[in-house]
Amino acid sequence: MSTTPTTTATSSRATLVGSPMAGAPFPAGRPRRLRRTPALRRLVAQTRLHPADLVLPLFVKESLTEPAPLSSMPGVLQHTRDSLRAAAVEAVNAGVGGLMIFGIPAERDSIGSAATDPAGILNVALADLKSEVGDATVLMADLCLDEFTDHGHCGVLSSRVLSSGVLDEGRTVDNDATLIRYADMALAQAAAGVDLVGTSGMMDGQVAAIRAALDAHGQSETGVFAYAAKYASAFYGPFREAVDSALIGDRRTYQQDPANRRESAREVASDLAEGADLIMVKPAMSYLDILADTAAVSPVPVAAYQVSGEYAMVEAAAANGWIDRDRAILETLTSIRRAGADIILTYWATEVATKLNAGS
Ligand code: PBG
Repeated sequence: MSTTPTTTATSSRATLVGSPMAGAPFPAGRPRRLRRTPALRRLVAQTRLHPADLVLPLFVKESLTEPAPLSSMPGVLQHTRDSLRAAAVEAVNAGVGGLMIFGIPAERDSIGSAATDPAGILNVALADLKSEVGDATVLMADLCLDEFTDHGHCGVLSSRVLSSGVLDEGRTVDNDATLIRYADMALAQAAAGVDLVGTSGMMDGQVAAIRAALDAHGQSETGVFAYAAKYASAFYGPFREAVDSALIGDRRTYQQDPANRRESAREVASDLAEGADLIMVKPAMSYLDILADTAAVSPVPVAAYQVSGEYAMVEAAAANGWIDRDRAILETLTSIRRAGADIILTYWATEVATKLNAGS
C-alpha cells in the first residue's frame, strides 16, 4: 500500500538538497566563488537598502525652548517646533522616504484633549511640516492617545463608579470609547495636512472607525498606516523617556503577547479588511518571523518599526566598544528588509540615508 507524501514548506525545502535545484554539488559547486571580491558580493546582494525605504520617527515637545537630548537614545532629540522643521529638512534632503511625528503636549488630561485640539502640539507641528516639506515627503503621525493622557494609556479608561462612589482601581482601556477619540484625532491630523495616520493604539476596530470618519469628512485621500501586529514589548523602554510617558503598569490588555504568532495573522487580516493602506509589524528584530509571515501574504506594502530599545541596544554596545556600530546598524536594517519589510522606521534613517548616498 502506498502512502501519499505530505508536502510542507519544510519538507519541500529539504528535498532541494541533492536535486538539480540545489546547484552543482562540491567540488563543481563552490558558493564561495560569489563571495570572493567586493564587486561580486555587491552584484549578487539579494537585499539592498535605499534611503526612500526609510522613515524617520521624530519627537516634538511643546514645553521646550531648546532641543533636548535623550539619555537612553544617544543621538535622538526631543524637538522644538523650529528644530523639528530643521530635522525634517535634513531628512528629506538625505532622501528619507517619510517622517513619523510624535507630539508631547504641555498639558495632559484623562481623555488626551490636546490630541484633537487643532492648536495641540502634534497638529501644529504637522501643519509646520506640511508647509516646510509637505510636497517632498510623506508626512505621517502617530495616532494614539498615550502621549496625551495623564495616565499614559493608549485610550480612554472605562470609568466604572463603584458603589462607594470612587472610581474602580482596576479600570481598563475602554475600546469603543477610544475609537471615538481616535476618529476625532484622525480628523485633526488630516486637517493639519498628514498624508498617513499611524494607528498604533491596538484597539479593535480602529482602522474601520478612522477610515469611516475620514471618508465622512471629505478626507478619503488620507491613508491609514496600520500598526497591525504590535506587541507589548520591553523594547519600547527608551520611548518612555522620549515622550515623557506617564504610564504606570503596562499595555498587555491591548498590545499582543510576544508568545503569539498566529494572532498576528488575525490582526493583519482585520486591519486589511478594515481598509489599511499599509501595514506594520512592531518591534522589528525580535519579530522577524511575524514580519516574514506578514510579507508573504500582504497585498499592501509592509513596514517594520525598529523601535527605541533596538536602537538603544546597538548604541550602548557600540559606546562600550563591544560591537562595530556602523556595521551593526546596516546589518540590522538589511536583516529587517531581508525578512520582508518594504519600509523600515528607524531612528538612524537620516544618518543611514546620508551614508547610502555617499556610497558607503
Ligand atoms: C504608541 C507608540 C509607542 C511606540 C510607537 N508608538 C509606545 C507603545 O506602544 O508603548 C514605541 C516606539 C519605540 O519604542 O521606538 N504611541
